[in-house]
Amino acid sequence: MNLSASEFYSSGADTTDVVLESAFFAKLKMRNGTFKLTQPSRFQELEVAFRPHVEERAGSLREVLDVGVSTGLTTVELAKFLGDCGSAASITATDLFIEAHIVELFPGFRVFCDPEGWPLQYDLRGIAIRPWIRRLDYVTLAFIPLMLGRSMLKARLRSRISAGVSRPVRMITRSLPSNGAIVFVENDIMCRSERFIRRFDMIRAANILNKGYFSPDQIIIAIGNIHAYLRGPGALLIVGRTNRAGENAATLFELNRVGSFTALERVGGGSEIERLVLDFRCPQLRTAIGELSIGHQ
Ligand SMILES: C[S@@+](CC[C@H](N)C(=O)[O-])C[C@H]1O[C@@H](n2cnc3c(N)ncnc32)[C@H](O)[C@@H]1O
Repeated sequence: MNLSASEFYSSGADTTDVVLESAFFAKLKMRNGTFKLTQPSRFQELEVAFRPHVEERAGSLREVLDVGVSTGLTTVELAKFLGDCGSAASITATDLFIEAHIVELFPGFRVFCDPEGWPLQYDLRGIAIRPWIRRLDYVTLAFIPLMLGRSMLKARLRSRISAGVSRPVRMITRSLPSNGAIVFVENDIMCRSERFIRRFDMIRAANILNKGYFSPDQIIIAIGNIHAYLRGPGALLIVGRTNRAGENAATLFELNRVGSFTALERVGGGSEIERLVLDFRCPQLRTAIGELSIGHQ
């Protein structure tokens, strides 16, 4: 049986079962259609392959950004990996969806939803019910109550949340280290954040910049933002994707002196967006190249 959000958030913070936790979050469908999917230990082979490069720079890795972290389970593993490599970096973990609320609409009926009132789970007297529609629901007509429920409840949920009549919770792992080395921030990698500019010595974008999910134009926007968030030459970027069999295809890049990316190491043949990253030129670099080529004419 599925765990209800009330039950999940009521169980003690010290009872961290990462498998159970991942299973709970994996059933939550966000309003952009993505699921809070993540798995423990999915990047072990990347850690082995990239370790020498990270160890070499450990002393200068002060701030790290992990993009699209889901619950941050793999961010906790990243923090451990960095520590093992000799780095005391602090990590900013971002995702589009972190904040959520549990709203009791009627006695015995609670809704777990995002701050916009998008339902993530219904809880009827302790029984967890998914609010999202799957293909079979169109055959069984179960989609009708699910769609009606969503549109009828949204405004009510939002008004309860803004009136403070809800229990705010965060969709993050409970396996967080207690030293405050990881800070979670709701952030969209497609929108430039001024507070992140030239701040990070290393950025990881794992299982987010996938071709099947974003268009090449959107991926280039994200690469542009990541480029702007890196501190400068020598900064590292990890981009990768895990397939259904748990195998990784990833590339470790370095920002070079002319402001473009160089591939340092590959796992599983490299990232599917490696070419887009290598071909990326920031607007200033494009202007400089343009001026140089005019000068040579
Ligand atoms: C498949 S999970 C990857 C989690 C983790 N990085 C890993 O590899 O285990 C992708 C995450 O990206 C988040 N996401 C999707 N679009 C995003 C965006 N535009 N900006 C930031 N996060 C986004 C989703 O909410 C989801 O939690």
